[in-house]
Amino acid sequence: METQKQLLVFILCSYLCFFPSGLIDIKTKRSLQVQYYLVTNPYLILVLFLMAENYGVEGPTHNERHKLYGFRPTKLFVFGDSYSDTGNVRKAIANSWKVPYGITFPGKPAGRFSDGRVFTDYLARYLGLKSPTPYRWRRYAGKRLRYGMNFAYGGTGVFDTTAPEPNMTTQIDFFQQLIHDKVYTQEDLASSIALVTLAGNDYGAFKARNGSAGLINFIPLVVNQLVVDLKRIRGVGLKKIAVTALQPLGCLPQSTYMTSFQRCNGTENMLVGYHNLLLQNAVAKLNTEAKDTSFVILDLYDSFLSVLNDKGKILGSAKFENPLKPCCLGMSSDYRCGSIEENGSKKYTVCDDPGSAFFWDMVHPTQEGWRAVYIALQSTLEHLY
Ligand SMILES: *[C@@H]1O[C@H](CO)[C@@H](O)[C@H](O)[C@H]1NC(C)=O
Ligand SMILES: *[C@@H]1O[C@H](CO)[C@@H](O)[C@H](O)[C@H]1NC(C)=O
Ligand SMILES: *[C@@H]1O[C@H](CO)[C@@H](O)[C@H](O)[C@H]1NC(C)=O
Ligand SMILES: *[C@@H]1O[C@H](CO)[C@@H](O)[C@H](O)[C@H]1NC(C)=O
Repeated sequence: METQKQLLVFILCSYLCFFPSGLIDIKTKRSLQVQYYLVTNPYLILVLFLMAENYGVEGPTHNERHKLYGFRPTKLFVFGDSYSDTGNVRKAIANSWKVPYGITFPGKPAGRFSDGRVFTDYLARYLGLKSPTPYRWRRYAGKRLRYGMNFAYGGTGVFDTTAPEPNMTTQIDFFQQLIHDKVYTQEDLASSIALVTLAGNDYGAFKARNGSAGLINFIPLVVNQLVVDLKRIRGVGLKKIAVTALQPLGCLPQSTYMTSFQRCNGTENMLVGYHNLLLQNAVAKLNTEAKDTSFVILDLYDSFLSVLNDKGKILGSAKFENPLKPCCLGMSSDYRCGSIEENGSKKYTVCDDPGSAFFWDMVHPTQEGWRAVYIALQSTLEHLY
């Protein structure tokens, strides 16, 4: 019922707020600022009004903050996909293990879907921890186990996707098994933080199987399953859980190559807006119900857009001159970043300076891109303490 009401209101708003602008031109002043458009639109006020009772996601109240005083996370547990994977996906099936992935850090391919560090690495650094060991390499982790563990697998979602890797349910099963095996104690968990990323592979899989029609009805199913997973993670005993809002899928190079990387696909971003609205509401509800736990949304939608709009200027320099264009690109639509012929000849190009590109490949930011997003998220990250 609740979801249906929201859907109705959202669709009403979508038509009125988004469709006049259609494709959003990155070069115009209006550019990517869908938010600005929304804020100035009376229908959004209506939406917010109707949902006011559910709102209040802004982080801990004074009371909660007081209770959390002195909370210093000692471990990070990570669930999700390629936006947080640091080496779980098998070498045989992922480009992340091929040259030129990893050229900036650690200098060779190491299972990260980027030229270097990914969001997990920046969050770990923020918490004063080493990046947690990938689950697949846990037997070789040694002392590194004390920083937590990364269960994220590139290409996965809350449901099964086209990637033959563990979905989020299974990732949480792995985590529970380790607790059962006493690798981590309840005490450990009480001083731990979880990061949960969901970058849209469920939607990619849906499109591959069913096409775009009916996608909007699939969105509540994805969010509901994500909420089930979030509750499970909380149930295991984690006190702080950071979950990412979906990034603007319509701005990923896989969508913008149709316009030579000039314009975001407004239709896709609108669907992302709906996903994020449902997530926002569900998380607000969880926070209200919970007495000693706080879910924090890391808004990749806003942070990606603010970096893409400003081209990184907020960071002190205009670095990302052509922010929608990826650094590493297949030579034709048959090839991807990292593709080689049987005789070894390269079928991709890499830009001179990955540090000047926001996107690395068709889906993933560069290390410099992630750094910019991380900086844009600073004020939210403060809610993790
Ligand atoms: C996740 O994967 C497991 C194992 O393949 C499967 O049994 C389960 O149904 C999947 N969960 C979801 C929510 O798709
Ligand atoms: C696709 O369509 C089939 C049949 O209409 C349906 O059973 C399935 O749930 C849909 N979604 C996905 C993700 O395949
Ligand atoms: C935008 O995305 C929608 C949904 O994926 C697709 O049908 C449409 O063709 C795209 N538009 C452009 C101009 O790429
Ligand atoms: C590799 O093979 C392709 C065709 O498959 C050919 O065009 C290319 O010249 C070959 N390169 C080398 C270095 O032999």
